[in-house]
Amino acid sequence: MYKYHCLNPISQVGLDQLDENYVKTEDAAEADAILVRSAKMHDMEFGKNLKAIARAGAGVNNIPLDRCADEGIVVFNTPGANANGVKELAIAGMLLAARDIIGGINWVQEYEEDGDIAKITEKKKKAFAGTELQGKKLGVIGLGAIGVLVANAAVHLGMDVYGYDPYVSVDSAWRLSRNIHHAKTVDELYKECDYITVHVPALEDTKGMINKHAISLMKDGVVILNLARDVLVNQEDIVDALVSGKVRCYVTDFPTKEIVGVKGAIVIPHLGASTEESEDNCAQMAAAELRDFLENGNITHSVNYPDCNMGEKGEGERITILHRNIPNMLGQFTGLLADKNMNIALMTNKSRKEYAYTMIDVDTDVSAELEERLSSIDGVLKVRVIR
Ligand SMILES: NC(=O)c1ccc[n+]([C@@H]2O[C@H](COP(=O)([O-])OP(=O)(O)OC[C@H]3O[C@@H](n4cnc5c(N)ncnc54)[C@H](O)[C@@H]3O)[C@@H](O)[C@H]2O)c1
Repeated sequence: MYKYHCLNPISQVGLDQLDENYVKTEDAAEADAILVRSAKMHDMEFGKNLKAIARAGAGVNNIPLDRCADEGIVVFNTPGANANGVKELAIAGMLLAARDIIGGINWVQEYEEDGDIAKITEKKKKAFAGTELQGKKLGVIGLGAIGVLVANAAVHLGMDVYGYDPYVSVDSAWRLSRNIHHAKTVDELYKECDYITVHVPALEDTKGMINKHAISLMKDGVVILNLARDVLVNQEDIVDALVSGKVRCYVTDFPTKEIVGVKGAIVIPHLGASTEESEDNCAQMAAAELRDFLENGNITHSVNYPDCNMGEKGEGERITILHRNIPNMLGQFTGLLADKNMNIALMTNKSRKEYAYTMIDVDTDVSAELEERLSSIDGVLKVRVIR
C-alpha cells in the first residue's frame, strides 16, 4: 500500500488512477509520494518514506530539485500536458490583437442603458475595425509541445508560418506541418513576420531574447505574443516599443508592473493552462508517472534523474538504486550480488549530470542484509527493492 499526499488540489480524474493500492494521507511526512502544483516546497523537510514528487504542470521552480536528488527523491513533471490549452490561448491572443475586440466590447458595455445602441453601433464600429490573420506571416520561436501545435493551427487559419528552433526534437519535427518554413536564423524570422510568438523555456540564453536589438530587426507594427515566461521579454524595451508604435500589440500571459496599463498591451492573468482539460491531463500524467515509478521503478519525465525504463516488473524482485554518477558503482553493485551467488536477469543504468539510476532484475529474493550493504556503498542515495 502506497501513501500519497496532495500539496494542492489535484484534479480527481488523475487521483482516480491511483487504485486500491494507494491511500491518501493528510500528513506529508509519512507519504511515499507527493502531488503538487504551485505550492512552494523549498523550505519543506521531506519524510524518510518519500520516494517521488510529481508536479502536475511544467515549471518546477517551486521544488528544490538538487536537494531532492541528494535525498534520493525523484521529481517528475508533466511536459506537454497543457500544450493544447496554451495553443488555444495563443490563437485567441492573435485574434484579439488583429481586431480591437476588447475595445469594442468595452464600448458596448458603456451603452447598456441606451435604446439607440443598434443605430449608434453602425456609426461607431469603424473605430474597432482590424485585419484578418489569413495571409499574414507568423513566426514561431521554439517548436516544442506548444510551438508545434500553434504553428500547425496557424497553417489551418491560412497564415504563412515560419518556425525557428535550433534544438528541435525528432518527435516535434515529425509532428510539424510540412507547410511551415524553416527559419535558419532567428533574425530571418524577426525580419519577415507580422506576428511573432515565443514558446521557449526560460534559460540563460533565452532570458531577455526579445529586447531592443531584436525588436529593431522586426517590421514596424509587429505583434508579439509571449505566453511562455515573462523574463523572455525585456520589459522596459517592450514598453518603449509599444509607446513608439514600433510594436503595435504585445500579448502576454504574465502581468508585470511595467506592462500593465500600457497602450497596446493585452495582458492576460496567466490563464494558459487554466482549462479543465489541461488540469485533468496534468493530473492524469502525474499519477501515471508516480504509479510506474512506485510499482515498476521506471522513470519517465523526471527533472532531476535520468529517464529509465525496464518495462513492467515481472515475477522476480527488482532492485532500484539512485546514486551519484561516479566511477565503479556498477562494479560494486554486481560484486555484492555475485558474493550472494545471485543471477542478474536484466540490468539498466542511466545517468544525468551528477546523478544516475540503476535497475536490476534478479531471480532470487533480495535479503534485508543485501539491501543494507547496497545502501551503505559510498555514493548510493537510495535503494528500493520492489517485491
Ligand atoms: N502560459 C502558461 O500557462 C504556460 C503553460 C505551459 C507552458 N508554458 C511555457 O511555454 C514554454 C514552452 O513550453 P513547451 O511545453 O512547449 O516546452 P518544450 O520543452 O516542449 O519546447 C520548448 C522548445 O524550445 C526550444 N528552444 C530552446 N531554446 C531555444 C532557443 N534559444 N531558440 C529557439 N528554440 C529554443 C526547444 O528546442 C524546444 O523544442 C515554456 O516556457 C513553458 O514554461 C506556459
